[in-house]
Amino acid sequence: MKTISFKEILLYFIVLISISSFAQNKSDRELILIDKDWRFSLGHLYDTQKDFGHAEGYFSYLTKTGFGDGPAAKDFDDRAWRKLDLPHDWAVEQDFSEKASYSHGFKTSGKDFPEKSIGWYRKKISIPQSDQGKIISLKFDGVFRNSKVFFNGHFLGTEESGYNGFEYDVTAYVNYGGENTIVVRADASMEEGWFYEGAEIYRHVYLLKTNPIHIARNGTYVTSEIQNDNAEVKAEVTIENKGNFKGKIEISQTIIDASGKEVATITENASAPDFYKTAKITSKIKVNNPLLWDIDTPNLYRLLTQIKQEGKIVDSYETTFGIRTIKFDPEKGFFLNGKSIKLKGTNNHQDHAGIGTALPDELQYYRIKKLKEMGSNAYRCSHHPPTPELLDACDKLGILVIDETRLMGINDYHLNDLKRLIERDRNHPSIFCWSVGNEEWNIEGGIVGERITNIMQGFAKSLDATRPVTVGISSGFKSGISSVVEIMGYNYMGNGDIDAHRNEFKNQPGMGTEEGSTFATRGIYFTDDAKHYQSAYDKKPRPTFYSIEEGWKFYAARPYLAGMFIWTGFDYRGEPTPYGWPSVTSYFGMMDVCGFPKDNVFYLKSWWGTAPVLHIMPHWNWSGMEGKEIDVWVHSNCDEVELFLNKKSLGKKKMEQYGHLEWKVKYTPGTLEAIGYKNGKKILTEIQKTTGNAENIKLSVDKENPSNANVSVITVEVTDKNGLHIPTANNEISFSIKGGKILGVGNGDPTSLEKDQFIDDVTLVPITNFEEKKQAYVDNTNQSALDESNAWKEAFKDRDYKNQASAYIYRGKFELKNNLQSNSVDFFYKKIGVNESVFINGNLVNANADDPQKYHLNKAVLKEGSNVITIRTSPLQKVKDWDVMNTDPGIIRVITPSEPWKRKLFNGYAQIIIQKEEGGNDVVLSAFAKGLKAGVLSVNQKKKIKLSSEL
Ligand code: GAL
Repeated sequence: MKTISFKEILLYFIVLISISSFAQNKSDRELILIDKDWRFSLGHLYDTQKDFGHAEGYFSYLTKTGFGDGPAAKDFDDRAWRKLDLPHDWAVEQDFSEKASYSHGFKTSGKDFPEKSIGWYRKKISIPQSDQGKIISLKFDGVFRNSKVFFNGHFLGTEESGYNGFEYDVTAYVNYGGENTIVVRADASMEEGWFYEGAEIYRHVYLLKTNPIHIARNGTYVTSEIQNDNAEVKAEVTIENKGNFKGKIEISQTIIDASGKEVATITENASAPDFYKTAKITSKIKVNNPLLWDIDTPNLYRLLTQIKQEGKIVDSYETTFGIRTIKFDPEKGFFLNGKSIKLKGTNNHQDHAGIGTALPDELQYYRIKKLKEMGSNAYRCSHHPPTPELLDACDKLGILVIDETRLMGINDYHLNDLKRLIERDRNHPSIFCWSVGNEEWNIEGGIVGERITNIMQGFAKSLDATRPVTVGISSGFKSGISSVVEIMGYNYMGNGDIDAHRNEFKNQPGMGTEEGSTFATRGIYFTDDAKHYQSAYDKKPRPTFYSIEEGWKFYAARPYLAGMFIWTGFDYRGEPTPYGWPSVTSYFGMMDVCGFPKDNVFYLKSWWGTAPVLHIMPHWNWSGMEGKEIDVWVHSNCDEVELFLNKKSLGKKKMEQYGHLEWKVKYTPGTLEAIGYKNGKKILTEIQKTTGNAENIKLSVDKENPSNANVSVITVEVTDKNGLHIPTANNEISFSIKGGKILGVGNGDPTSLEKDQFIDDVTLVPITNFEEKKQAYVDNTNQSALDESNAWKEAFKDRDYKNQASAYIYRGKFELKNNLQSNSVDFFYKKIGVNESVFINGNLVNANADDPQKYHLNKAVLKEGSNVITIRTSPLQKVKDWDVMNTDPGIIRVITPSEPWKRKLFNGYAQIIIQKEEGGNDVVLSAFAKGLKAGVLSVNQKKKIKLSSEL
């Protein structure tokens, strides 16, 4: 089997980048990633005051155009807000609580935490004068959820889905040659799934510039037909005209292979569509001897589509695609390029240890590579549209995909989602099937389910006739959806009689869309319900569910079943079945939330993969259990395996196909050794050795880590004096980093309530009881702050702006929970007068040199509890009667630095995800723990990894 190295992927990217920059130089299209430098703050679900006064205005953004108020306003003062880069997930930053949502992994976000349900994001961008005449849009790949977007105070729209990508045209609102403000309000109070979904802008955001005549959003659709050794590629392009040009345009379509070579090109002439209309142009292009996309050799092509107007290229657009055939046969299962392929799939959600759903692109590759390494060849996006980079990773690494929409139904909410999913994703060669639903218990067994499926299926076909449609069905496989769906999706063999259903519907192909749902805790070999531990031996988990081995034997034995998708590849946050609090992640995964393998991975490697496998479970550190019997299992694809304890044979056993081997072994410390034979020849040896005490911390870059990446996945473990990994170690390890930052930490322990992230706390403290007194002039004395005379009145109340005093003194209060040395406290002043003097607890404070409206407040002038702020100033004067004067003096921001990053090992492992500083070279990560020798790892740009001994 050919595996793809990251060098090849890198080469692919280099070619891609050079082609796109070549293309971009010649057209008006620019797609600019704007993930960096956003300002963020939590708002409030229903208290508009705590939501920064949003939607409090007499005229709201729904009443009058451009009336975005509170943070939605263009000039809202967000200087005190936290700075961050996307992708971001604020839910994963929160603590756990028993009161929080079971399905969302008990993170304190969501409807029961109104102060942690609304996230505001603001970003300023400049758009040059030279962009006049272009169409300017914002492109969001996904925001969880119910997002409202504003641009320069203009409301652009609401996107309810937390999974769909969406775009807004902002051309009419642009401030050319100046600053523009993008604002997003995400409302994560409601859940779409029964699994962790995060809360955030968790996918990329782009600024898109095009010519008025351009290829519409997701406006290419590439399909191919193979005849003999040649392929006919059909490239359908949708062109949109948002300008007034009328006349001829020329559309050229060029196919480029993975090495960057042009293999075919064609040019078509057409009339430009009318104003705000679209037109479709279809070209047929022949490719001789195409290199097919396959799971072992995922060859990709690119289609470069260019539009020429009056001889000038006005748009240039690239579509990655693959040439391949797919077929389902009701008797023989699934075929890729005419070759029978058993689907060896997993279901997965989209979160990862430490970082929630805000996965950097590198992590998508890491996860898909882990699955591929396990022998898997297929992935079901359960139960929502995935991030585009996940599909890119599947295209490039050779994994087949079932792409699934979120909710079943026949109205706009449902069909528009499906449409956007299919139009966005239909060029990915990895996708072999659309899924229009999963376990819709309310409708799946009846006529309503049947009607909805018929419509969604037909609708999907109208957008992409090249792929079949499935639905995952669970409550019996008798009638309703299962009678009409094109590809029957069996969710669990325990849920009905699969053979009986197939005998009734002989022309309906089928596959196991979910199987397994087994429970296992990585590195645990005795179930202990008090500790929420599930042993990792592959056992039938519940009466109507089956073990992975039982599942695979069933599917492997039936050629008519195209394959099975295990529930799940990775553990995920939420659904901690069979437990509840304080378990916060699932137990279903073949791997834990970090991607560390549970023992089932070796069962799958044995029977799904092609390389020889020999794996012994459990580990051999059972101090205190001397003389007691321990179940020893061997996962292997060898013909025979002999097991030895301290050199004494415990017998040789024959391996049954798709089986495993078992011994009962009385524990004595030492070495458990397995020898694997194939055709009578010894081919593999594997040992589990009792280790000594923990001595060293070891850091290593995970082998599935993408090379040359900005983000690296680091494995943390401890070893004994002989360098042996200690499988039972649970030490707490602290980390420090230079040349980069830590994105998150995890260890795969479903019951760990440790922090995922250690980030500085940013608290915004309001100024309350704001009062005023008239003054004859502004002075710099502050006795009045202490003056308790009743001349004080509520600030700005009934202010007669035509008849103001020549000066005012204002005072207000703010509360500080503590006054720690390490806190950094600033007052962000908003002008309520001219030539102000500011006092804190009677002390005059000075404005910062770089920002005259920011005051850094030293610990010496502050105190724990109530503090008094006094502002002396002469008043602002209205120019026009209707001018609205600022009455808000600003806000106090307290930054409390986080404690150092740390995480306990769980059964020998923890994971830390690090990101290199932009433009930097080396990242140096150090790890410390009491009584252990520190570990140091240096990752340099060229990915030469130095071990601690070399430093
Ligand atoms: C299925 C469902 C999955 C997950 C699984 C847990 O019924 O489709 O999303 O909940 O059960 O066993």
